[in-house]
Amino acid sequence: MCGIVGYVGEKKAQDYLISGLKRLEYRGYDSAGIVTLAENGEPTLLRAKGKIINLEEKIAENNRDDKIGIGHTRWATHGEPSEVNAHPHRAGKIFLVHNGIIENYKEIKSHLEGFDFQSETDSEVLAALINSFYGDGKYPLANAVVQALKLVKGTYGIAVVSELNPEEIVVARAGSPLVIGVGNGETLIASDASALVGHTKRAIYLNDGEVATITKDSITIKTLNAEPVSAKVEEIETNLSAIQKGGYDHFLLKEIMEQPESLTETLRGRVHLENKTVRLGGPGLSEAELRKIKHLLIVGCGTAYHAGMLAGYYIEQFTPEITIETVIASEYRYRQAYIPEDTVALIVSQSGETADTLACLREIKQQGVKTIGIVNAIGSTIAREVDGGTYVHVGPEISVASTKAFTSQVIAMVMFGLTIAQAKGVKSAILYPYIKEIAELPEAIRETLQGVKDEVKETAEKYKEYEHAIYLGRDTAYPVAMEGALKLKEVSYVDANAYAFGELKHGPLALVDDRFFEIAYLPKGMLFEKAVSNVQEVLARNGHVIVITNEEKFDLPVEHVVKIGSDVELFAPLLMNLVAQLFAYYATVAKGLNVDQPRNLAKSVTVE
Ligand code: AGP
Repeated sequence: MCGIVGYVGEKKAQDYLISGLKRLEYRGYDSAGIVTLAENGEPTLLRAKGKIINLEEKIAENNRDDKIGIGHTRWATHGEPSEVNAHPHRAGKIFLVHNGIIENYKEIKSHLEGFDFQSETDSEVLAALINSFYGDGKYPLANAVVQALKLVKGTYGIAVVSELNPEEIVVARAGSPLVIGVGNGETLIASDASALVGHTKRAIYLNDGEVATITKDSITIKTLNAEPVSAKVEEIETNLSAIQKGGYDHFLLKEIMEQPESLTETLRGRVHLENKTVRLGGPGLSEAELRKIKHLLIVGCGTAYHAGMLAGYYIEQFTPEITIETVIASEYRYRQAYIPEDTVALIVSQSGETADTLACLREIKQQGVKTIGIVNAIGSTIAREVDGGTYVHVGPEISVASTKAFTSQVIAMVMFGLTIAQAKGVKSAILYPYIKEIAELPEAIRETLQGVKDEVKETAEKYKEYEHAIYLGRDTAYPVAMEGALKLKEVSYVDANAYAFGELKHGPLALVDDRFFEIAYLPKGMLFEKAVSNVQEVLARNGHVIVITNEEKFDLPVEHVVKIGSDVELFAPLLMNLVAQLFAYYATVAKGLNVDQPRNLAKSVTVE
């Protein structure tokens, strides 16, 4: 997820471009750039690695009174954060900024032999493709853009300018947001309306498959098939943070609610229902290497560790002759652990910068073990140092409490496990149920969130006075119970701890009294009845139990039951985790605490 902006009008383009990029910095902050064109088309291209402040310094040294320009703040997807990978990308006389992922960029690139590529990005390939149809101005820029986009697979929000025509900007979208700000004698572009606030109250939200040619006093929109589109001008909200939070009160709620979209990005191009398989390019392991794997070592901290635990439970279910060990990085880095032959290590991290996880990576690599990263932050240190990896592509996760990354990390690791099982020749009849449910999961998550949100809000407010909580689960619901307890702990400061249901009688049951409430996960399946009898043990000690289940027929006298009504069963614990995420959020709001920046914590723990 990146941020793009554009301006054409009577004012100094540099001013809007930099203020707009600052508003969009939450969308990506590893490099940024702008290009403006003088009246004669002479371009001034300025790019900088890192936060937007670095670009601002360059603009201060290269002040231009140009009246047209485009800009970009980057969340890297292809090619690590650097000035050469920063946008705008140049191709001949044109400049392009892009937000999204061009899936078939390698294939397109192979057809653009003569072009001298400067960067590793998919976006530069799109610029070169547009240029190949532009013929240095022989054809209208908009036509060249349309020709190129007809060959593209993936998502995009783009803005394109040409030195040969410094009066117009061409924009288009498919899958990535793009808004056009309608001004007086000026037209503005942005990835979301937060950049437009203070410049105009009127905006046109471009739809997928639409291409617009804009000048300072005209906006012409057509579909990719050249059908004219009559633009709907809407009033835009003025509350900045609300927009950045996409209308949500906090980034945490936004990131919880955007999991259908973020998981869709994790699955993009990897799940092939047509031949009942999954494919991950990133790990770079051959079929033979996958077949040889006998031991999986999964390493992470906090939520990443819990994601590893849950994925391990699933992979064991469908992969024969493999042992799985999930370890806490801060402990493992100092253990004298023996790593058996034929081990592959999964290094799990949202930020890709967590010190303990990084240290484990280096330690394990030194022992000659193959390391595969399950990472969100593109170009992060862990991403750069692993032997191969899979990006989860959930976009920036800004709230300290990790939510959307957890769901996608679990599924990314399960997909990796499926590639091992496929290579080991496991029957499709065993694997397809997992693959089918993974494809259905984004929609199941949407239905679950919409179905339980209000009920969970009410329940969380009812329990806000409690200082202690116990989370309980069996099998795949146990790591989910641990994750639920961590969420409540880190944002609402409740002393919440998770235990395997079966461990209750070995100690934790002694805790049950009126100081505690209990959250129990009861997924349908072979262990359901066992979990029911464990809940009865807690009820027998007058526990205050909230049950989360997808079993219709549940009638124990607990205080509250949250029913998950989805056909997704194998991954039901992931749907149940959404309830715990929402519960932690609403409990924290009810306590009036700082939801996105809880005390004593940081989003990325780069120290030991
Ligand atoms: C989770 O909500 C916390 N922010 C924390 O436990 C986090 O998961 C842990 O620090 C690991 O971070 P990483 O995924 O960026 O490596």
